[in-house]
Amino acid sequence: MTESSSQDTTRAAYDAVAPLYADLFRDSVEGQPLDRALVTAFAEIVRDAGAGPVADLGCGPGGVTARLASLGVTAFGVDASPAMIELARQAYPDLRFDEGSMLALDIADGTLGGVLSWYSIIHTPPADLPLIFEEFARVLAPGGHVLLGFFATDDDSHPSAEPFDHKVSLAYRLPVDRVAELASEAGLTEVARMRRGPGEGERFQHGRLLARRGRGSSQP
Ligand SMILES: C[S@@+](CC[C@H](N)C(=O)[O-])C[C@H]1O[C@@H](n2cnc3c(N)ncnc32)[C@H](O)[C@@H]1O
Repeated sequence: MTESSSQDTTRAAYDAVAPLYADLFRDSVEGQPLDRALVTAFAEIVRDAGAGPVADLGCGPGGVTARLASLGVTAFGVDASPAMIELARQAYPDLRFDEGSMLALDIADGTLGGVLSWYSIIHTPPADLPLIFEEFARVLAPGGHVLLGFFATDDDSHPSAEPFDHKVSLAYRLPVDRVAELASEAGLTEVARMRRGPGEGERFQHGRLLARRGRGSSQP
């Protein structure tokens, strides 16, 4: 499947379930203390760095975008699914939500203090991931941070991404080492990583990576 047809499939799948998804996962970190702590730390880091606003890429119904805003960060959301964007706008009329693709962001170079991608890279075919990380690095200002949340393979150094039957659209579990490598190849330096086991009713491990764009060069 080409880049765009895979994204079209994912977009249509999220459009079809948007109200149900919003009911179940309005703010997907709310019930998870470790994830909440990480998002709170990310908000503090980007706020204190003062490098620019945060884009919540693949924001879904916008609850995590609103959480970032409540933590004193200037935040906006972007999602490929028009239905998700509509629901986010209805729920948080004071915040900005734009339809858009992580594969080609309509955001100027070097303008963001932070990028949050919370379970939004999981649907991207592994061969297209380098392009997405290049986009993250391109839009981040020097000193900006990216925080990624994703389903992880059982060991960090697993040789490849593993497809699985996600309830909405085909998705992949990713080796944490590979995610760190993709960040590094795009010029983003690993700051911290976390793995947590599956919560109640969940099947898989979860990976988190925080990485930073260096201040030293004009290129990522
Ligand atoms: C699992 S949901 C996560 C939503 C939200 N981040 C959360 O934590 O609840 C994945 C979201 O990423 C969006 N998405 C997937 N691929 C995308 C892409 N290439 N560009 C923009 N959004 C994308 C989907 O439309 C969907 O809303």
